[in-house]
Parts: sequence; C-alpha cells; structure tokens
Amino acid sequence: LAQDQSYRLPTHARPSRYEITLQPDLNAADFSGHVDVDLEITGSPRRLVLNAVELEIDAVHLSAAGTGEDLVPQIRLDEAEQQLILDFDQELRGPARLSIDFRGVLNDKLRGFYRSTFRRQDGSEGTIATTQFEATDARRAFPCWDEPDFKAVFAVTLIVEEGLAAFSNSQLESSVTRDDGTVEMRFADTMVMSTYLVAFVVGPFYVSEPVVVDGIPVRVAALTGNFDLYRFALQVAEHSLRFLAGYFEIPYPAGKLDHLAIPDFAAGAMENLGAVTYRENLLLADPDAAPQIELQRIATVIAHETAHMWFGDLVTMKWWNGIWLNEAFATFMEVTTTDAYQPSWEMWKGFSTAKSGALGIDGLRATRPVEYPVGRPEEAEGMFDVLTYQKGGAVLKMLEQYLGADVFRRGISHYLTTHAYGNTETSDLWDALEAISGEPVRTIMSTWIDQGGYPVVRASLSEDARTVTLEQDRFLYDGTTGHDDRWAIPVTLRASVGGQVVSERLLVAEPSARHSFEAPVDWVVVNESAWGFYRVAYSPSMWSLLLGAGLASVLDGQERLAVLGDTWAAVTAGTVPLSQWSEAAVAVEAGDDPEAWTSLALSLKALERAGDDADRDALAAFARRLAEPVWDRLGWLPTPGESDLVAVTRARVLRVLADSGRDEALAADARDRLSAHLSNGGLPPDLIGACAAISVATGGAEAFETVLKAYLSAPLQQDKLRFLIALGDTPDPSLAGQALDLAVSPQVRSGDAWYLIGGVLANHSTQVSGWEWLTANWPRVAERLPQSLLVRCIEPVATFTDAGQAALVRSWVRARPEAELPVTPVRLAQILERMDVTVAMAGRLRGQIAAALG
Ligand code: BES
Ligand code: ZN
Repeated sequence: LAQDQSYRLPTHARPSRYEITLQPDLNAADFSGHVDVDLEITGSPRRLVLNAVELEIDAVHLSAAGTGEDLVPQIRLDEAEQQLILDFDQELRGPARLSIDFRGVLNDKLRGFYRSTFRRQDGSEGTIATTQFEATDARRAFPCWDEPDFKAVFAVTLIVEEGLAAFSNSQLESSVTRDDGTVEMRFADTMVMSTYLVAFVVGPFYVSEPVVVDGIPVRVAALTGNFDLYRFALQVAEHSLRFLAGYFEIPYPAGKLDHLAIPDFAAGAMENLGAVTYRENLLLADPDAAPQIELQRIATVIAHETAHMWFGDLVTMKWWNGIWLNEAFATFMEVTTTDAYQPSWEMWKGFSTAKSGALGIDGLRATRPVEYPVGRPEEAEGMFDVLTYQKGGAVLKMLEQYLGADVFRRGISHYLTTHAYGNTETSDLWDALEAISGEPVRTIMSTWIDQGGYPVVRASLSEDARTVTLEQDRFLYDGTTGHDDRWAIPVTLRASVGGQVVSERLLVAEPSARHSFEAPVDWVVVNESAWGFYRVAYSPSMWSLLLGAGLASVLDGQERLAVLGDTWAAVTAGTVPLSQWSEAAVAVEAGDDPEAWTSLALSLKALERAGDDADRDALAAFARRLAEPVWDRLGWLPTPGESDLVAVTRARVLRVLADSGRDEALAADARDRLSAHLSNGGLPPDLIGACAAISVATGGAEAFETVLKAYLSAPLQQDKLRFLIALGDTPDPSLAGQALDLAVSPQVRSGDAWYLIGGVLANHSTQVSGWEWLTANWPRVAERLPQSLLVRCIEPVATFTDAGQAALVRSWVRARPEAELPVTPVRLAQILERMDVTVAMAGRLRGQIAAALG
C-alpha cells in the first residue's frame, strides 16, 4: 500500500539533547519558551524539518559546531502537517545546535501545554499549567522531533511565579529567585526518552513526604492539603515500584517518581517518565471513606502507569502501530501487580469483565487486528481502545499461561534488557520470548495480533464419552462464521474422569482437534480458568453433563463468567435460545461474586431494552428471583471482617434488585438512606453510588435535585463523579435534558461531560430525546469536549434497539464529514455494527422474553 508519508520527519537530522526553558503565565494563560537542540546531521541537507503546531516562532538560528557559523534559516510553518520547515542557504553538516524562541497559549483542550482550574479553600478559582503529550502533542509546547524513535536527553528549566511548585521528569537541581521575583527551577538531565513522555506541571501543589524505594523517592502531589487522600496512593505506588523492579529485574530507570493529581484531564492517567499525571479521582482517595471499587481502580491505574516506566518509557515502540506493545503490556502488568498487592481482590477475575468488552468488539466484522497500521498522528488516537488494551492484555495472559509464568517473565526481562533506551517492533518481543522459552511464540501470537477476530471452539463428545472433538470457527455476532480463519489456540481441558479431576493442555492450530481420555468423562470444561481469548460452544450433551454436575460446583469464578458471557454472546448472535442463558444465569449461582453480578446486570439491562412491557414484567420477576436471596443474606450493613469483594457485591445486587427487579420498597429505602446520608452521613461508602443511581432512577424531580446538589457541593472529584454519573439514570426526558445541558455547562469539567452524555444515551427511557439533543447540540459538544472523548458520547448508540432510530443515527453519521466527527472510520464502523446487532437481537427477542425466562 503506497502511502503518503509527508507527516513523517526526515531522519538526516537527529536530536540528542534538548535544553528547554519555559515560562508559563498562569494568569494570562500563555507561555514563552526557548529551546536549544543538539543535532547530529548526516548527509548534507539544506532543509531541517521538525514538528510544531499552534506556536509562534520568534527566532531561529543554527550554530554549526565545526565552523562556529551562525545560520539563520527561512521559516515556514505547515499547519496541516504540523511541521516547522527551516530552509538554509547552505548545506548543513555534522553536529550543530538549533536554537528557537517561541510562544504559545495555555489552551483549554486538555492536550499539549494546557490550563486547568481548581477551587481554593476560600472558594476562589486557581489555575495551573500542565501537559499531556501522548500521542503527538509535545509539538504544541515546544518545537521538537515529535516521533517516538527520536529519543533524546531533556534538560528542562521552568520559570515560575514565586511560591508555586513545578514538576518535570527528573529531580529538581536548583531553584534560584531572579531579579523580577520569579523563580528559575532547573531539573536534572533525563535519560534518553521520547518526546511524548516529557511533562511540565506548574501550580500551588501540595507534595507528600517521599517514600524511598531502593533509593528512589516516590511522592504524591495534588492541589489539596488533605494528606489523608494521599496515603493510599503512596502505599500502592511504593508497592508497584518495588514489585515491578523485581518482576523485570531492572532497576527503575529515572531518578525520582512523582504521581500528580490534575483536576482537568482527558485520559485517565499518563506515564510521563518520573512525573505521572492522573485524573484526581484516579489517584486521591481516603481509604476509610472510599468505595472498594474505587480503591481497586486507583491501585490498578498506579500499577499500570508505573509498569510503563519500563514498558514504554525505557523501551519504546518505533511508531504508533506498536502502541499495543505499550498498552497491552501495561494492562497485563496492572492486573499482575495489583493481584500481588491484594490477592483477595481477585483481580484476574475482574479482568475477565474487561476482557468481555474486548470480545464484544472483536466479534464484529468491523474489528481490526491488535497491531494495525497507523499513518497520520490523528490515527494514533483511534488505537487507544479495548482491542489494544483488553484484547492485547488478554492474549498476553493467554501466552503467559501457555509458556509458564516464570518463563514468560524471564522473556520479558530479556526483551527489556536487550532494548533498554531503544525502540522496538513487535517482532523484537517475540524474539525475546522465543529465545527464553524455545517455543514458536511468533507463530502462535501472530494469529492473535495480526488478524482481527477470535474463534469459537465447538466442543463435542463421542458416544463412549471418552473423546472430545474441538472445532474452530471465527465467532461473529451476525450469526455467521468465517471458516477460513485459523488461530493457534492454547486449549486446556479440565475433566472429571472417573471422579478424578484432570487437566490436559493442547495447542489447536488446525480446523479441528481431538483428545481422548483414559476413561469416560463425567464432565469437561473447555478453556480452563478462561485464560484463552476465545469462546466455547458446548454440544448439548456436554452442556447437560456440566449442568448435571452443577455449574456452581464445577466451574471456577473465571469459568463461570466465561459460561455466562459465551452463552449471552450466542443469544446475541441468535445461535442459541435465550432459555440457555437464563438456565446458566440461575445455575451459576452468582452469590458473592461481584463480576458475575456485573455480567447478569448487563444482560438484564440489554433484555429490558429489547423487550416489550410483558417481557419487562417477566424480567423484573427473574431479577428478583436471582437477587433477592443474596440481598436478604447481605443486607444493608457490612458485617465486620467481611471480604472487600462482598462490599462490592452488595452494591451491585442492590442495584439489580431495585432497578431491574423493580423492588419499589427497596428503592424507597435507598432514597431515604441517601437523603439521610447527605445530611448526616451513615451509608457505607460502597453503597453511595448505587443509592444515588437508584434515587435518580426512581425518585423523580425531587431526587434529581437532591443528587444534583450533592454533585455541585461535593468537594472531592471522586464524590462528585459518583453523583454526576447517577444523574444520567433519570427516566424523565425533561430531567435528562437538564442533565445534558449541565454536561456542557461550566459546572461540569470538559473531561467529565461524557459520563453524563453517555449515560443519558445509554438509558432506554431517554435515548431518543438524548439523541435529538446530541445532534442538535453537536457543534457545542465538539467544541467543548476534548477531542479524544467525543467517541464516548456516540458509543451508546450501540444500545439502541429500534430500527427506525438506528436509521436516524446512521444517516446523521453519514452526513458528517470527518472534521465534524473526529472518530476514526474503524471505530465508527464498529459502533454502527454493534447497533445493528442490538437491533437484530431485539427484533428476535421482543415479545419472546417472558416465555424464555420460564
Ligand atoms: N498512555 C495512556 C494514556 C493515554 C491514553 C494517552 C490515550 C493518550 C491517549 C495511559 O497509560 C493509559 O493507558 N491510561 C488509561 C488508564 C489506564 C489505567 C488503563 C486511560 O487513560 O484510560
Ligand atoms: Zn497505558
């Protein structure tokens, strides 16, 4: 495929060291800067091309090391290519130093060098300056070779107002007050690193005392002086750093590690070397007052970003097609690290839920391979999706299980050691793993990474119950299969043979495979612990054996989720009757397992959207049948010493019962308890979000007002978000309209608006009016939200069940040029195909659900 590569920089000049001085003016929301770049020039070009966008270039000159000549080029800024083009009237050679004076604006777009605001204790508004450069926005802060394989050393100086804190990637070396009262803060040279990992943060931050891990000071910094909110993050950060250095067998590569809470943030967190930035709610929490689920999330986010210090920062992909290497591996490590921190959280089971999201997208015709060509910078943005993170993470876990955890770990360590300070492609990872394991890693993994989709393994049992036959086909939600696609599938069978439980491992690379047991089996589970990234379709006889033995006693937690997920997917695709899912839903006995409840809740919601009134009555009865016994046992109050996961389960069961189960007495109780809590406290932290959501869903305008007030007055981002999300649960279109207007008002941070917009659009009762609002207000939404989050406002159309509504969505999307709808074509096609799948499923099930639930 011949491609226009004009957005790529020529390689005849390579930077080795940047000296950057920046002076941000927080009040005027702008900055001025100077950069000196040491270059090594090869060949004899007359032109230098580097990246810059939305910067004013005041002066440029180049001093050639050999001759000492000072050359002044002609300057051109190419806005479309985001390039600064320097034309000299003579040929350039050898080492040289390029110097540029420039100015820019601290923007409100949450990218590049941007402005974020916060409330001081006295209620007044303060401003900070901060950065977000990944994927290609360093060029918005200083002219640079903004591609990941132009690694260089960065020496940063920040000139700030007296009294402010400033952070960059390395240790502060000196801090000098200048004649005009400003303070010049000089940071140590970094290791060689990519531009997208550079960070500058300036503001009145509070900073924790450091925790020292193997000589590395680890700190947390934020705009609140309430240090109770730092404790948990510090503890997790300390564990993550220690654990990961041990796992990789490589010391942490920088001199210090700060974790910084930033009030306005587009992504969740960002792995800037030594200066990791986070949304406030993903870093700060009082462990005595925060829900378990939020603490777990914070722990995984910190572990994820810390893992990037090696995987991404020390060893970096050559180009953005390799972003999966970064993110899949950080995802794998976030779970591994958090699992080591707190085994009772059963993080891998939690990851199964995340993985099912990837199976959901990867079962579409419009899916893409995990590794996928990326051309222009905008295309990199579309790569941060469930295929990169969750499918990528899941197939790495599958490989780890296949190779053995220690062999895998040693392979990773070998890869990182070999390529430290360098750039890699995917094949480098396979080489390292093959060298250590002696297994054909590349051949196996390319079927999962280089082609889209995944198989469904059809399992059947011979008459004599001794031989299992496995056949692979591509799984597709449109109910068809792709017979030509093949995967190298690591399959583990667990079977009961004459009362003895045995495991058998095989690699299924052919269209079909067989395994014979020594004696007839009592039952067989295919895909032990569901480590494989595929679905299983059991033959009727194998399914009966499992049901007969009791799903609840035979299956482990991950297998139980896989059975629920695979059955639900088959129902969605129309290949098995709904009764098979409801049978499984009862038989797995979700009990105290929060992930099983998540799975059930999602399916129940989808059925409610698909069904008619009679269906919904039957669904409510079914939900009560599932949830009532568990709720009766768990009740409102935590029992002393109960496990953390029970607290999570309690919240989920409460929601299923009050919402899907339409238990009105329970809903009224939840509303009362929330009101009481808002004036006097008292609710266990885990139940606040659930009670807020139930209140808004059932309590009309009064409850909406209550939760809105709670949102507006909550001091912490973490608390605010819970209430904000709950507002999307109103069934009343006019209140939903109020919520949507709120979303784009100054009362909601631009990085948070999508929670509310997405919530209203995913809510069956408000999705029609919500869609009308979104299309009528699109220019306003697109203007206000960070571009990378717009897709999250569109995504909920995948839950639309009405064919007419779907047609409206499609024609609106078609009428939008890409400039107005900055979502990559692949991502958009996936959303629309999911919508079609939902519409088709609803068409099949509507009116049939009551009967199927029995
Ligand atoms: N590198 C990403 C941040 C990022 C995402 C930058 C998209 C640019 C575009 C970071 O490591 C990350 O993966 N953050 C996640 C949170 C994480 C814990 C899964 C995010 O932002 O959602
Ligand atoms: Zn990441």
